[in-house]
Amino acid sequence: MNDGNAAWTLITGSSQGLGRAFAEECAGRGMNLVLVALPDTGLNEVSRILERAHGVRVEAVEMDLAGPDAPAALCARLGEKGIEIGTLINNAGVGYNRRFSDSTLRENETTIELNVGALVRLTHLLLPSMKSREKAWILNVASLAAYFPMPSMPVYSPTKSFVLNFSLALREELRGSGVGVSVLCPNGIRTNRSSRALIERQGFAGRITCQYPDEVARAGLAGLYRKKSIIVPGIVNRMLRVASSFVPRTLYMRVISRRWGAQGSGARAVQVTAQSATRVPVTVGA
Ligand SMILES: NC(=O)c1ccc[n+]([C@@H]2O[C@H](COP(=O)([O-])OP(=O)(O)OC[C@H]3O[C@@H](n4cnc5c(N)ncnc54)[C@H](OP(=O)(O)O)[C@@H]3O)[C@@H](O)[C@H]2O)c1
Repeated sequence: MNDGNAAWTLITGSSQGLGRAFAEECAGRGMNLVLVALPDTGLNEVSRILERAHGVRVEAVEMDLAGPDAPAALCARLGEKGIEIGTLINNAGVGYNRRFSDSTLRENETTIELNVGALVRLTHLLLPSMKSREKAWILNVASLAAYFPMPSMPVYSPTKSFVLNFSLALREELRGSGVGVSVLCPNGIRTNRSSRALIERQGFAGRITCQYPDEVARAGLAGLYRKKSIIVPGIVNRMLRVASSFVPRTLYMRVISRRWGAQGSGARAVQVTAQSATRVPVTVGA
């Protein structure tokens, strides 16, 4: 049996944003990495930079994880190379700031396929070998939106509720095994251009709740290795999470609708997290 640190760390969606911050943080800790992102987005360059800077091994896999067969193809490739995963960070995710009636079916399908489908498939495929290790770790990236129905993001927020509840249930199932499961629920992160624009449009509330990718990645890894179940970086965000359990839903929905409901009402929309395979243009509404 091996311990989790001797094995490789797999990070999905790691060419930029939070995933890249995870990659830098893990490489800095001397961990060998498997990085996955969409093709032609600079993943190979990121990998070379990390290898040179930290003396670790990095395997770059360019792949659209939203396809139903992609996680199996990824695992087959790892098997061919004899790579065993000790830490799995399910980070890749996509979301659109758009009213449901203005969205395309493809956008909603991609959101579900990547945020839920790829995460479940990859976890299911890797879990047997992870369970055979003395220690292994799974960190799933949800969002604070997991706690709140979000108008203008009506599919994204339920996918993150799924990630939250799936992670908590899996954690219980794996209690007593060597596999630790944590779920990360950040508020706004200054990652891609659209996320930053959305944070700015929230004004003061956006600025006091948002964080930089490196601090969220550090909090995520620290929480994971301290065996925390739910990791909410930032004190204001932890207060918001607690408030979600005792403030009446009608009240917080009124506040959320006022702040978010109008955001997707314009003709233009913001893709708030990952660039998806559909490559919807990133444009900021007025
Ligand atoms: N940003 C926020 O405010 C925020 C807040 C809460 C939670 N989150 C969550 O944090 C995670 C990371 O978000 P982020 O803001 O860092 O996103 P990001 O900056 O857009 O980066 C997303 C990463 O995922 C990759 N990716 C996108 N679609 C993919 C696909 N179909 N297959 C494989 N890789 C794919 C991207 O690769 P390419 O470079 O190839 O496109 C990129 O590396 C997501 O799960 C998101 O829901 C974000």
